[in-house]
Amino acid sequence: MTLQIRTLDEYRAVYERSVRDPEGFWAEQAATFRWHKPWRRVLEWNFREPRVKWFIGGRLNITENCLDRHLETRPDQVALLWEPNDPKRKVRRITYRQLYGLVCQLANALKAQGVRKGDRVCLYMPMVPELAIAVLACARIGAVHSVVFAGFSAVALADRIKDAQAKVVITADANARGPKNIAVKTVVDEALSMGCSSVERVIVLRNTGDEVPMTAGRDLWWHDAVRGKRKTCKATVVDSEHMLFILYTSGSTGKPKGVVHTHGGYMVYTEFTFRNVFQYQPGDIYWCTADIGWITGHSYIVYGPLLAGATTLMFEGIPTYPDPGRFWEVVQRHKVNIFYTAPTAIRALMAAGDEWVKGRRLTSLRVLGTVGEPINEEAWRWYYERVGKKRCPIVDTWWQTETGGILISPLASITPLKPCYATLPLPGVQPCLVDANGNELEGPNVEGMLCLKFPWPSILRTTFGDHERCRLNYFAAFPDKYFTGDGARRDDNGMYRIIGRVDDVINVSGHRIGTAEVEDAINKAPNVVESAVVGYPHPIKGQGIYAYVITSGPVGDLSAFRQAVLDTVTREIGPIAKPDKIQVVPGLPKTRSGKIMRRILRKIAEGDTSNLGDTTTLLNPEVVDEIKSGALV
Ligand code: WT7
Repeated sequence: MTLQIRTLDEYRAVYERSVRDPEGFWAEQAATFRWHKPWRRVLEWNFREPRVKWFIGGRLNITENCLDRHLETRPDQVALLWEPNDPKRKVRRITYRQLYGLVCQLANALKAQGVRKGDRVCLYMPMVPELAIAVLACARIGAVHSVVFAGFSAVALADRIKDAQAKVVITADANARGPKNIAVKTVVDEALSMGCSSVERVIVLRNTGDEVPMTAGRDLWWHDAVRGKRKTCKATVVDSEHMLFILYTSGSTGKPKGVVHTHGGYMVYTEFTFRNVFQYQPGDIYWCTADIGWITGHSYIVYGPLLAGATTLMFEGIPTYPDPGRFWEVVQRHKVNIFYTAPTAIRALMAAGDEWVKGRRLTSLRVLGTVGEPINEEAWRWYYERVGKKRCPIVDTWWQTETGGILISPLASITPLKPCYATLPLPGVQPCLVDANGNELEGPNVEGMLCLKFPWPSILRTTFGDHERCRLNYFAAFPDKYFTGDGARRDDNGMYRIIGRVDDVINVSGHRIGTAEVEDAINKAPNVVESAVVGYPHPIKGQGIYAYVITSGPVGDLSAFRQAVLDTVTREIGPIAKPDKIQVVPGLPKTRSGKIMRRILRKIAEGDTSNLGDTTTLLNPEVVDEIKSGALV
């Protein structure tokens, strides 16, 4: 097990050491894992190309550290505790020994289907234990998983399958979410009809039992694939820098990019941060409410907790089914000690009223966490007082898909708390704030763009198939720095408050949505000529999506037109990217070089038109008044 920090003084000493001697510090952490061959060098890096390698020459398999090493010490401890969508269905408890067997069995099945080291496997699945099993089975044989959140549309899924050139897709008949079953296999079928020629095999889990069409020669039931397969499978030993997974995420331009993480560094960092941030203690029941389709689920439902030998609870359903008391009912039933969720869920449950929390026995809770977007003070207080009864620290964890693990966060019960602040950098993390010219802002009470000056073990290595895109996106804005896309401030105690994105990315309910992506989708709707999308403050979602749309002629029935736009976005991306507001406009404010002035559109969407700044330099200043008068606020 990696070092576990116990006091603030120890944190300070460890932090100081991690900056003075990062290689020594991380080598000590890495040495606590099972390796087949030790590394020759701890770190090689430059942020120019960029090129970052950790534990060079080391050989391992992350799943041996998630599974095999626990077989000696805790074979019968529950590894995965699964809470079904329907509270009347049976809870599943899978011990480390059982999980090992199930992962090995599927790993053998994948091998039998021709999956080899380095091949990409796309997982489009509900939140059932088999998703975690599939993730680990891929890693077991050195294959690369690419989990696609099951709320994405067929078009979005096809884009990701093609980009990754996936050989196999694993899916299920349907996904039980709240009161309804959502067919997922049919989405896969539709995606595969869009020219995903790399896909040779589709493995289908029988989950809800809903009828699904199977394509002969291509589709195979999960239960048939694993039948007769051995429950042991020697892990494929890989290089530290062997690709572990691809996870697609949105940026300010173009299509989503496939963020790449690797076995060695990701393993060391997720285990270390899991145990330190949440102050995990052996025997704790830990619950992260995210979906494995996002990085939070990868790092802090699957890998981090299993590496640490924890019991990780996986929830199939949604926070409001069958009622808004569901989270608290689950906490009570399973005596959850550590609970990790998103501000949007907290705000939604807060809005549902205190009565849902009141009747529940939440005394098992010791640590509360949040992630995904800035948490507003009101939600922070409600979470602290009503859920945690002022006994439980809130760890406001700031990180990103690209960072692999938490970078800035309190250590539970160690770091002093300050609402809305992610507080201090974790050991090995060297944040800085820069101004628009790239000058580093020193000292307290400054606000700027958040960058990192030094690599940590789980920094992204590349964007799949396009390294230049990785460089341009993260390493080109400021020389020798990783740029996060976030703005932040630092107070007099060196604590960081994350303000939010400074690029054209919207954070809707903790999900990252690129404005360009939504615009591309809207532009495919009938009669649409051009569009511009901005975020605006939304009481539950954090940010809502506001779309300004230019049409080719009169729209006629406005609500039918809006519906057509929503349907198009749902088809192209998925329901999470649906605009909350759609305003038909005669034109968009543009600079003389043809760039849309989003600053003005953002202000109008926020309902703040008092000071739009200088609009005289616009190509078409007259549209501003027209947009203002038709604004949907
Ligand atoms: C963006 C990354 C990391 C897992 C979930 C989202 C925002 C994330 C916080 C926080 C304020 C946060 C940032 C970041 N964000 N955590 N604690 N406080 N903002 O991962 O989809 O890669 O999004 O989420 O804007 O850049 P993601």
